[in-house]
Amino acid sequence: MKIIRAKNYDHMSRQAANIISAQVILKPDCVLGLATGSSPIGTYEQLIKWYEKGDLDFSQVRTVNLDEYVGLDREHEQSYAWFMRSHFFDHINIDPSNTNIPCGTALDGNAECKRYDDTLRSLGEIDLQLLGIGPNGHIGFNEPDSCFTKGTHKVALTETTIRANRRFFQREEDVPRFAYTMGVCDIMNASRVVLVASGADKADAVKAAFFGPITPLVSASILQLHPNFTLVADEAALSKV
Ligand code: F6R
Repeated sequence: MKIIRAKNYDHMSRQAANIISAQVILKPDCVLGLATGSSPIGTYEQLIKWYEKGDLDFSQVRTVNLDEYVGLDREHEQSYAWFMRSHFFDHINIDPSNTNIPCGTALDGNAECKRYDDTLRSLGEIDLQLLGIGPNGHIGFNEPDSCFTKGTHKVALTETTIRANRRFFQREEDVPRFAYTMGVCDIMNASRVVLVASGADKADAVKAAFFGPITPLVSASILQLHPNFTLVADEAALSKV
């Protein structure tokens, strides 16, 4: 595990964007695993700036997102499909047909998980997986559990996650209770994993995940075993280690 200590959110975002940028330059048709949420927004903003300067070309890049809320249509403003378009895809020259996100409105949940697993397999190895971390140590929506889940699955969101994501919705009852998420093994199969963490409210999760025992109760902790894992965290997120 490599730790890059950043001064603050902006610095963390630039450091993570530098790693992703190098990946895209070295392998223009790479597969990027992408995350949503507040943590990676600055990283996407930086990548967009470099794209606008002509330094990055996403025309051959393929992407696969970690997760999507069950029940939200891709046009819903809180869906992760919408998030990715508004924060990243609409601002770069990526081919929309090269982007993949679970379908929140699929009628058959099991079939949707299988479809997404097939998509992951057809893309081959993820060259770089970008992650955030939940306050309970989740990656993707792999919530605290008794075992590490392998592939894409439907998950009931915990109260902690519902409360953390409440800020994006008008009312707490609007926060979806279920999501589709890539499994921990899918994430571990990526060649390189980069996790961004910022702010004091992530300090406990960072400590438990990367300086505590490896346990499915803190799904990010398994990244301690990944051969090419980089934690890019700011001083506040690292304040308890
Ligand atoms: C989002 C995802 C989640 C978030 C995590 C942190 O695609 O997979 O694991 O990364 O919940 O969210 P923020 O960054 O909003 O604190």
